[in-house]
Amino acid sequence: MNLKDEFIKYFVSKGHVQIPSAPLIPENDPSVLFNTAGMQPLIPYLMGKEHPLGKRLCDYQKCVRLTDLDSIGDKTHHTFFEMLGNWSLGDYFKEESIAYSFEFLTKVLKLPVNKLAVTVFKGDGDIPKDVVSESVWKSLGIPSERIAYLGVEDNFWIAGDTGPCGGDTEIFYFRSDDEVPKVFDPKDERWVEIWNNVFMEFNKDSEGKITELPQKNVDTGMGLERVVAVLEGKTDNYETSIWKEIIEVIEKISGKAYKGNEESMRIIADHVRTAVFISADYAGIKPSNTDQGYILRRLIRRAIRHAKKLDIDTNSDFLEQIALEVIKKYENYYDEIKNNKDIVLEVLRNENIKFNRTLSKGLKEFEKLVKHIDGNMIDKDNAFKLYDTYGFPIELTEELAREKGLMVDTLGFKEKFKAHQELSRTASAGKFKGGLASTGEKETKYHTATHLLNAALKRVVGRDVHQKGSNITEERMRFDFSCDHKLTDQEKRKVEDLVNEWILDDLEVNVETLPKKEAIESGAEAMFIDKYGDIVTVYTIGDVSREVCGGPHVKTTGELGHFKIIKEEASSAGVRRIKAILE
Ligand code: ALA
Repeated sequence: MNLKDEFIKYFVSKGHVQIPSAPLIPENDPSVLFNTAGMQPLIPYLMGKEHPLGKRLCDYQKCVRLTDLDSIGDKTHHTFFEMLGNWSLGDYFKEESIAYSFEFLTKVLKLPVNKLAVTVFKGDGDIPKDVVSESVWKSLGIPSERIAYLGVEDNFWIAGDTGPCGGDTEIFYFRSDDEVPKVFDPKDERWVEIWNNVFMEFNKDSEGKITELPQKNVDTGMGLERVVAVLEGKTDNYETSIWKEIIEVIEKISGKAYKGNEESMRIIADHVRTAVFISADYAGIKPSNTDQGYILRRLIRRAIRHAKKLDIDTNSDFLEQIALEVIKKYENYYDEIKNNKDIVLEVLRNENIKFNRTLSKGLKEFEKLVKHIDGNMIDKDNAFKLYDTYGFPIELTEELAREKGLMVDTLGFKEKFKAHQELSRTASAGKFKGGLASTGEKETKYHTATHLLNAALKRVVGRDVHQKGSNITEERMRFDFSCDHKLTDQEKRKVEDLVNEWILDDLEVNVETLPKKEAIESGAEAMFIDKYGDIVTVYTIGDVSREVCGGPHVKTTGELGHFKIIKEEASSAGVRRIKAILE
């Protein structure tokens, strides 16, 4: 049985519409680096906006949560996970929601009722105790000793600090072969939370004030990895079918058994899987020293370090071998994994080459440092040296130090790091975490220029030229597109001329907000359509270009200046790359 498919089938049979998983890297939301819950892309609809697909939705959603990063290596934590969810947007509420969950767990998954227990919100201040949920659970056969009432810390859910929120009821499963205790104790770790049903009827504003939403919603989230472990009778998630083949590849590469090497193998498996999903996202994240790129770098480098612990020859394609197994597992569910396979492998290969050059030397330097250390603290200068000279993310130095019972002056490191960044003018200080809020004037111009370039290539080279990726800095733009030949000088000149002609025409840039389907029907170019939510923005430039895009863009093309191609080269098979500047 495939849990994802069964889940969707069940909720569709109950009148829900399946929506695609939103991208892992949220668009237009500078407050978070990654999608952390299935409800995140649905916030406007939970707040009352009408969803084009109706009031009952379900999906499986890619999520990354980094709060648990230090727990990776144990049996149950993952940085990336899939969350199964169903929503009622002002339609059904507690009674049906609980009944659906109960039926799915006991009838479809056939979990014994005797191994289930639940928590219910005990109320807080003006918000009363949730007696409705309690009585529904009882009516379904959950006895009172298996129902625990908990407070805001446990049974009131909100993503971050503000937004839609409400009390919840969480479902637990007794994941152990021991006899099931009569009374449910939520602190007993043999009971694991498998599903959270949030009754979103409030909104919390930035002052902390809670008001009622115009509608009562249901937002549920079920952790796929955990439920698969339950269904397969495993207490170690990494022994389930989700991880089996991935762990086997690591065993084969290292020549070591999983038993006895669990921690490093779990870290490698988890981090490579997450790195695959981050680098496959259409946002085009590459390892770097800021934002999502830094997380990607940290994950890959930590995986490499643990591979070294297992005596894997890190100067090999081991990361790609593991990644290929991950890709095999997910490519039929997520098209960015299928489409961006080569990009993922390239990211891993390049980052491995970079880190391998310095890793061994860095580890030696670290050992030397430990030998001569005065006290039990690695000082900021040494931590910075490990970062600057050997490419050790501070978290890696901290982990190495922990293993030796040492501490790191991380605060001092961060100050030094900041000063260094300001010095080298690559400071990301003041920059929001990803998203478009960080887009400066220059980048905005380049952004509009990519649309013009895309349109010009279609006219000069052919209609079947499609954008494959882009990357913008303050200094230049890079644009990847499908094309089977090297552009001739004449083609390049024509493209440049067209773009400059459109700039001189000072064309207006207009934006509209439309349901995705309408946008596509209206002829908007939408290469990375899976990247967007159900409502999209469409940018039109005069009558030359119409693209689904998150923006931002200039108001008229006259602002762009003079467009010049500085390089045209191969990017990968069938994909060419243009680097261009605005003068
Ligand atoms: N949004 C809820 C959660 O993530 C369902 O637990």
